[in-house]
Amino acid sequence: MAPRKIIIDTDPGQDDALAILLALGSPELEVLGITCVAGNVPLPLTIRNARLVCELAGRADMKIFAGCERPMVRDLVTAEAVHGETGLDGPNWDKPTMPVQEVHAVDWLVETLMAAEDGEITLCPVGPITNVAMAMVREPRIVGKIAEIVTMGGGFFVGGNTTPVAEFNVYVDPHAAAVMYRSGVPITTMPLDVTHKALMSPAWIESVREIGGEVGAKTAAMVSFYERYDLDRYGSRGGPLHDPATIAYLLRPELYGGKDVFVEVETQSELTMGMTVVDYWDRFGRPPNCRWISEVDSDGFFELIRERLANLPAGR
Ligand code: RIB
Ligand code: CA
Repeated sequence: MAPRKIIIDTDPGQDDALAILLALGSPELEVLGITCVAGNVPLPLTIRNARLVCELAGRADMKIFAGCERPMVRDLVTAEAVHGETGLDGPNWDKPTMPVQEVHAVDWLVETLMAAEDGEITLCPVGPITNVAMAMVREPRIVGKIAEIVTMGGGFFVGGNTTPVAEFNVYVDPHAAAVMYRSGVPITTMPLDVTHKALMSPAWIESVREIGGEVGAKTAAMVSFYERYDLDRYGSRGGPLHDPATIAYLLRPELYGGKDVFVEVETQSELTMGMTVVDYWDRFGRPPNCRWISEVDSDGFFELIRERLANLPAGR
């Protein structure tokens, strides 16, 4: 069976890094390119970080594109408190050497999708949805070309992680998320409702370190740094790895459970800005516009990540 063609749109971020590594370690997927967006840290750093992660995976050939440096309407909000000043704190990194493509990410998304067969490419946005929404605005015909969007963002039953009701990716660019949910593209959402059910354990982090080489050492250092925020904030027994859930879903959908629902995004009220309002019990009678994932086999998720990280060249 031919690998599934995907594009990862990302704001690395340590959890984004694990999503990229999981995808690059999985032969079932063909990553056509990585489009960077401002989010966890400003765009120049998300680009740097995407380059570092691809080089770590032995994929200096990967096409990396610079995208939007700010949300569609609101000012950029970043998350250095979570990810560190560089967005990829934890390991000691050299300077990246692989190139960044000349064409803007939004233009490349449009060109690539318009040149593809209908339903050939799946988008995996794991940061603010700015690039994807801007591509839809620039060329509405791409909506009919996209096979599926599998995105990390939002939260409903567990509330938000940035405000009491808003998750970071949707809070940063609520207008972009609203464009996506109104687009009609088949969407599968991995919200906090499911990512908070798969928390890292010290034993798992150690099993990653034991993979050895640069991949083992740097990945363990990334997630050890990254989880401290959630341990402090939630007093939880481990940190959630949000973004790899999108890739794990593509690889092993049987690990997950969810429901087709109607979702709308708050873009008016400052109090609830960026809230994903999920009509879980169909009170509005509106046709579902996404599959909202809320259940996960946590052990299966973490074993899949470890197994695929071990597929990568261990590096120096
Ligand atoms: O709320 C979690 C999301 O926000 C993740 O994608 C994380 O990388 C940050 O972008
Ligand atoms: Ca992210």
